[in-house]
Amino acid sequence: MAAPAQSRRYTEIVTKTFYIETFGCQMNAHDSEKVIGTLEHEGYMRVEDEADAGLILYNTCSIRDKAEQKVFHRLNEYKKLQGEGKKFAVLGCVAQQEGEKIFDRAPYVSLVSGSASYRNLPEMLVRLEAGESRITGLDDRQTEETFDTEFTSRTNPHRGYITIVEGCDKFCAYCVVPYTRGKERSRASNSVLSEGRRMADAGFTEIQLLGQNVNSYRDPSGKMSFAELLAAVGEIAGIRRVRFTTSHPRDFTRDIVQAIDAVPTLCDHVHLPVQSGSTAILKAMSREYTRDWYLERIAWIKGAKREISMTSDIIVGFPGETEQDLEDTATLLEEVGYDAVFCFKYSPRPNTPAITMADSIPDEEKARRLQVLLERQREVQRKSYARHLGQVMEVMVEGHNHARNQVVGRSSQNKTVNFTTAQPILPAMGNYLPVRITQTFPNSLVGEAVTV
Ligand code: 5AD
Ligand code: SF4
Repeated sequence: MAAPAQSRRYTEIVTKTFYIETFGCQMNAHDSEKVIGTLEHEGYMRVEDEADAGLILYNTCSIRDKAEQKVFHRLNEYKKLQGEGKKFAVLGCVAQQEGEKIFDRAPYVSLVSGSASYRNLPEMLVRLEAGESRITGLDDRQTEETFDTEFTSRTNPHRGYITIVEGCDKFCAYCVVPYTRGKERSRASNSVLSEGRRMADAGFTEIQLLGQNVNSYRDPSGKMSFAELLAAVGEIAGIRRVRFTTSHPRDFTRDIVQAIDAVPTLCDHVHLPVQSGSTAILKAMSREYTRDWYLERIAWIKGAKREISMTSDIIVGFPGETEQDLEDTATLLEEVGYDAVFCFKYSPRPNTPAITMADSIPDEEKARRLQVLLERQREVQRKSYARHLGQVMEVMVEGHNHARNQVVGRSSQNKTVNFTTAQPILPAMGNYLPVRITQTFPNSLVGEAVTV
């Protein structure tokens, strides 16, 4: 009876297809890689078009209201696909934040899970396949366990993420993360290192260590500090670049700079979000440091042997922010000399302490302040990028711009470098090449490959 067996197999293949869409930060992007790996291990096949998928997953972000609105907009679009036998799952931060309310708003959704529950996905999938609806993974935010899986399906074959810290215990007044990703928990150093070694064996040359607060890392086995872990990852044979994000100024210790000094594979770049240059606003935000305290950490970084590139995040229009506070932020940008700054308009978020403060600054005024900072920062970068003119730097190939006959790559400082090469065949992705910088812009560098 070959025919029925075959058709059963065919049905199984067709029903076990999935499509996933990801919004939000690098943590979310990497969570999706782990979710994809888990689904594939459970016999699902990924498809690139939602029309072909039996299961549609949406990995969501709720950091600002705009991100959250996108989710509900997308869920409304899903409505059109209802009735085709498809199942829907909402994952990530909006799932954790809105919980079962998502079922009321979008009854065709069958599964709602926050990131702290992803390790229960195989069991939730079995229930989904059995026809259960209203399946939730929302109760695990206080867990000690990380979502540590051997089934990660990384999208880029040369550089990949490793989560070392999940969740956050900082409770900044504006931030939803402690409520969506739960209690802070670190992954054991030997588990991080063995994943790093596996990646190196598979041909990866760049590793980015991830956490909402990577530098508050506390090894559950008590073996290593964050700086020691950083150095150990940098010493894995075959690994040429190690990055880490995001660092919290409160936990930024001098030994991190010493590790960058000592281990050449640790990239000369630190992302250290300040959020505001005004001590009064930092206090209102519960950031637990002052402007001077932050600048002291910057002085450590500036004192390193290699020149370390610095980048930051800023929130404008936090409740009570005055013109003087804004000016304090602008002068801080100039004093530090950041190479990139990500500026956001303050967005009140549910459950956060700041939700009780009046959102006193109108949206147009927030937009104006954002513009003021971006213009001041552009001038900082115009000058700071110019220092690279004539330098030769190592660039990792990330893509090709055929229209311009240019190669697109990234420097160790995380800067985009567009360059030409004298060779008739363009260098392959993941290659490292020395490039001489011939032109500079406020956001990118242009150069030519140096023939060796
Ligand atoms: N409104 C605006 N920006 C925010 N961020 C975090 N929460 C908010 C909010 N409620 C910004 C911070 C953080 C970055 C990831 O997003 O600058 O560093
Ligand atoms: Fe968005 Fe924050 Fe969740 Fe990342 S952790 S997806 S930025 S809300």
